[in-house]
Amino acid sequence: MLLTRLAGALVPAMAFLSCLRPESWDPCVQVVPNITYQCMDLNLYKIPDNIPTSTKNLDLSFNSLKRLGSHSFSNFSELQVLDLSRCEIQMIEDDAYQGLNNLSILILTGNPIQSLAPGAFSGLSSLQTLVVVEINRTSLEDLPIGHLQTLKELNVAHNFIHSLKLPGYFSNLPNLEHLDISNNKIQSISQKDLQVLHQMPPFKLSLDLSLNPLDFIQPGAFENIKLRELTLRSTFNNTDVMKTCIQGLAGLKINQLVLGEFRNERILEKFDKSALEGLCNLTIEEFRIAHFDDFTEDALGVLNCLANVSTISLVSLDLDNLDGLPKVYKWQYLKLTNCNFKHFPELEFAFLKKFVFNANKVMTSFTKVTLPMLEFLDLSKNHLSFKGCCSHINFGTTRLKHLDLSFNDIITMGSNFMGLEQLKYLDLQHSSLKQINEFSVFLSLKNLRYLDISYTNTKVVFPGIFDGLVSLEVLKMAGNYFQNDFLLDIFTHMTNLTILDLSMCQLKSVAQGAFSSLLKLQVLNMSHNNLLSLDMLPYKNLSLHVLDFSFNHIVAANGQELRQFPSSVTFLNLTHNDFACVCEHMNFLQWVQDHRHLLEGAEQMMCVKPLDMQGMPVLSFRNATCQLSKTIISVSVLSILVVSVVAILVYKFYFHLMLLAGCKRYGKGESTYDAFVIYSSHDEDWVRNELVKNLEEGVPPFQLCLHYRDFIPGVAIAANIIQEGFHKSRKVIVVVSQHFIQSRWCIFEYEIAQTWQFLSSHAGIIFIILQKVEKSLLRQQVELYRLLSRNTYLEWEDSVLGQHIFWRRLRKALLDGKPWSPEGTADAESSQHEATTST
Ligand SMILES: *[C@@H]1O[C@H](CO)[C@@H](O)[C@H](O)[C@H]1NC(C)=O
Ligand SMILES: *[C@@H]1O[C@H](CO)[C@@H](O)[C@H](O)[C@H]1NC(C)=O
Ligand SMILES: *[C@@H]1O[C@H](CO)[C@@H](O)[C@H](O)[C@H]1NC(C)=O
Ligand SMILES: *[C@@H]1O[C@H](CO)[C@@H](O)[C@H](O)[C@H]1NC(C)=O
Ligand SMILES: *[C@@H]1O[C@H](CO)[C@@H](O)[C@H](O)[C@H]1NC(C)=O
Ligand SMILES: *[C@@H]1O[C@H](CO)[C@@H](O)[C@H](O)[C@H]1NC(C)=O
Ligand SMILES: *[C@@H]1O[C@H](CO)[C@@H](O)[C@H](O)[C@H]1NC(C)=O
Ligand SMILES: *[C@@H]1O[C@H](CO)[C@@H](O)[C@H](O)[C@H]1NC(C)=O
Ligand SMILES: *[C@@H]1O[C@H](CO)[C@@H](O)[C@H](O)[C@H]1NC(C)=O
Ligand SMILES: *[C@@H]1O[C@H](CO)[C@@H](O)[C@H](O)[C@H]1NC(C)=O
Ligand SMILES: *[C@@H]1O[C@H](CO)[C@@H](O)[C@H](O)[C@H]1NC(C)=O
Ligand SMILES: *[C@@H]1O[C@H](CO)[C@@H](O)[C@H](O)[C@H]1NC(C)=O
Repeated sequence: MLLTRLAGALVPAMAFLSCLRPESWDPCVQVVPNITYQCMDLNLYKIPDNIPTSTKNLDLSFNSLKRLGSHSFSNFSELQVLDLSRCEIQMIEDDAYQGLNNLSILILTGNPIQSLAPGAFSGLSSLQTLVVVEINRTSLEDLPIGHLQTLKELNVAHNFIHSLKLPGYFSNLPNLEHLDISNNKIQSISQKDLQVLHQMPPFKLSLDLSLNPLDFIQPGAFENIKLRELTLRSTFNNTDVMKTCIQGLAGLKINQLVLGEFRNERILEKFDKSALEGLCNLTIEEFRIAHFDDFTEDALGVLNCLANVSTISLVSLDLDNLDGLPKVYKWQYLKLTNCNFKHFPELEFAFLKKFVFNANKVMTSFTKVTLPMLEFLDLSKNHLSFKGCCSHINFGTTRLKHLDLSFNDIITMGSNFMGLEQLKYLDLQHSSLKQINEFSVFLSLKNLRYLDISYTNTKVVFPGIFDGLVSLEVLKMAGNYFQNDFLLDIFTHMTNLTILDLSMCQLKSVAQGAFSSLLKLQVLNMSHNNLLSLDMLPYKNLSLHVLDFSFNHIVAANGQELRQFPSSVTFLNLTHNDFACVCEHMNFLQWVQDHRHLLEGAEQMMCVKPLDMQGMPVLSFRNATCQLSKTIISVSVLSILVVSVVAILVYKFYFHLMLLAGCKRYGKGESTYDAFVIYSSHDEDWVRNELVKNLEEGVPPFQLCLHYRDFIPGVAIAANIIQEGFHKSRKVIVVVSQHFIQSRWCIFEYEIAQTWQFLSSHAGIIFIILQKVEKSLLRQQVELYRLLSRNTYLEWEDSVLGQHIFWRRLRKALLDGKPWSPEGTADAESSQHEATTST
């Protein structure tokens, strides 16, 4: 009972404890060791102890610091960036940042500061950027920043400041470039508010007063004030207020004036062109206006006052045409973005150098413009179509250097950029190019450095497509395709090319010398193609740094390709290919291991084959298994070879071996027979009636070994021949006849005899030529012929005298080496006995 209660109390307590996250349990993220730490949103109430003092960049945002006492950061004298956004800081005491002499950026956004001590920012001798957005300030006087001489940017947006009374200390901030007081409560601006601006460096300060509820500017307040930029967006809630306020700006000299609203902060109820009349009393260099729904072409007339400005930027206005614009304007840069033009406007500006006309959703075709000074033309992201593009006639200028026709509709090539030889940059991407294979479209562009024809639905058929582009340094042609998916030799004259993008081109193969003249090529992108190998050599002479072959079907590379690999490459991307992790490609796989330092995402290179390696990293391949199986294979092949050779030899010389073994066993002087007779069965009659009778019954009697009589039954004939015949006989008698020579068995026997003779030195072979055998037949048995000439041989005669001589010679030959025994009876008896038992 007590135990369960205890447990009931302990479990929630422990759960609660585990939810508590003391700082030591959850340390800050070390972004750059000893330099950058991110401690965002960790419920910290003080700076964690484990932050090293060498830290330069510390993010403590979204914690609960509440109060910054003096010398709060003195342990971090190296700090350069300190972010204290939304730390619930209510109080900053004197010398809070003392010691942060290197602090350059201090961010205090979103702290409900109630007490800001006069010495709060003391120390900060290098501070350049102070962001005090949304810190519950009601006046600029509140900010004790007069001593921050290095300050360049002060952002006090989103506070409760209701006066633009700039305190005197601004004259001590000679470096101040940006003062953002937007989104405050300023309603009116009087002359005395801005007195201090006269003491500040001219044309240096940019002042942003957007999102203040301005309703009055005292005329003359800005008289002779020289600002770099003044921004007044979403500031006026009606045309009258706008009109009087702009008139109040009279006398202001300014580089850039920005008017308009924010896309999501529309407060002007109705725009009337009269609101801008006061602009005539300003001196303006650049004028921008954005997001006025009611600003139509009718209002363009008021831009009369801006006839001498250099830059006009009209963004997100409801313009249909530019008819209200006089042609004599001195404008040099005109930007028309996201306006609702239905047709391409007629343009004729004598001084215009740069014209940007994009995202205007025009659905028609481009009509010619006359802009004789034009150097920069950006017509991207409209739905324009071009017929007979392009020559100097289209643009009325020969000075064009930058031409961007990207993200448009159909561009039909009709001219080879004649008169536009100055062009350095040409972007046609994501427009649809027509007739690009008809002729050398870019022939005139010998100064072009940059060409982008990516995703232009171009099918490269014509080898001369890039003729003339001798200075080209960057060529992007991703997302196009080639005839037969084969990359032609089309880059021959581009000797200065450094970046080439051929990704997503469905390429299957590449011409042998396609890249050989690109000696300066540094980046080659062949990713997302259908290449099977890296064999687009020679690479070796190229100075490539980055090679992207990802997303192809490369299985492996052979040694030749790898040897050609340029040593200059520092990034190689081979991810997403069809690598085969098999021993056959061991060299390549080893190469991958050795070059993993230059392989981008080497860990993500996956095997596709074989099945059991599918999805495994290429780096996990071990070549040891290859060596193992290699040795296994070679060892087994070798042993099979040896075994079969031995088997063949044994098979072939089986009897010879037996003979050899027998020699050892029987030794010398063990002979039972005087002679072993080899004969053909056809000659058996002669052997029985003549040979046996004459030799065994004569004096002395000779004991012959005859297979029909002396062989042991049940023993293989061959074994008998050897054991009984050869080993137990002193001599061998070979009865040679026509039949003998034709009998394979006999020939075999006599071959063994030959070996036997070779093995036992005392042995002798006696040949009896029974019939005259044809010499030619004899010669077929070369060995026999040789033996005949080397050994005793007797010819059987038919005459009585001849037979007598024959027998005498035969006996003499048999007597040779016969041990003397009285009449040889013992031998005769034993053999007789043997013969009887064996039959
Ligand atoms: C960080 O600083 C500590 C002490 O100053 C030093 O021992 C360590 O090597 C430093 N680490 C790095 C990565 O610089
Ligand atoms: C500064 O560091 C010392 C020693 O590490 C420590 O005792 C002191 O409390 C630290 N000061 C602050 C303001 O954190
Ligand atoms: C930090 O400031 C000191 C002088 O206050 C200076 O000597 C040192 O070079 C600065 N360090 C850096 C990294 O700026
Ligand atoms: C702003 O500061 C004042 C005191 O100056 C305080 O009364 C008020 O509550 C603060 N507002 C916020 C939102 O903290
Ligand atoms: C415009 O601003 C003035 C002064 O801030 C205010 O009195 C008026 O109600 C506002 N008008 C509209 C339509 O918001
Ligand atoms: C320009 O300012 C003068 C007085 O400085 C004034 O008389 C004139 O009406 C102003 N012009 C416009 C268009 O506001
Ligand atoms: C523009 O400059 C010309 C002379 O350069 C001058 O006559 C003309 O009044 C000026 N226009 C405006 C609106 O300032
Ligand atoms: C190629 O580049 C070199 C050095 O940048 C330059 O001197 C040379 O004129 C260029 N060649 C061509 C044909 O533009
Ligand atoms: C190569 O092209 C692909 C697709 O066009 C792109 O994602 C990749 O970043 C490019 N590689 C390099 C090295 O620029
Ligand atoms: C590489 O350059 C050398 C001389 O720099 C040249 O002899 C050799 O033929 C070139 N190799 C290839 C394949 O172009
Ligand atoms: C391949 O790696 C390069 C190099 O570092 C990288 O820039 C490129 O985007 C990668 N390619 C793809 C298709 O991700
Ligand atoms: C196999 O790998 C080892 C080291 O991993 C390497 O030393 C050896 O050269 C490789 N063998 C072959 C044939 O690549």
